[in-house]
Amino acid sequence: MQKWVMSGLFFVACGLALVLMFTLPGKQQVAEEAKPSMPEVTLDPAAAEATLKASCITCHGDQLQGGAAPALQQVGGQMDTQALFNVISKGRNGMPPFKDQLSPEEIANLALYLSEKK
Ligand code: HEC
Repeated sequence: MQKWVMSGLFFVACGLALVLMFTLPGKQQVAEEAKPSMPEVTLDPAAAEATLKASCITCHGDQLQGGAAPALQQVGGQMDTQALFNVISKGRNGMPPFKDQLSPEEIANLALYLSEKK
């Protein structure tokens, strides 16, 4: 009788471990949350320029030549698309985050546009 109870418990524990294995976030998932994943977009330069005019030139200058904020004219040589996406989404120091004002697609389009500026 006691043996039966013990093996029953053993199987319940195994079942629980299996469930946890599949429901707990894996390491990869956690890493992806820290790095917002960038949606795939095809570059739309006109849309990017419109967003830049509306949201960015007050600090970065109307030719992106810099001013209160660093110049972005050659930022593609220093940062890749993912890094640009992160900075624009989450902000950094004096750079405000835009994830609540722009959609991930708009930010990805901006990141693509700026990454071509080398
Ligand atoms: C309120 C002013 C302000 C606005 C508006 C602003 N930025 Fe910035 N941005 C900054 C500042 C200040 C920095 C420098 C941050 C630092 O020193 O870490 C910066 C840094 C950046 C960088 C990193 C540059 C580098 O060389 O590391 C990028 C890219 C950038 N901004 C893009 C944008 C885009 C795209 C927009 C519009 C969606 C925008 N910014 C709007 C102030 C602004």
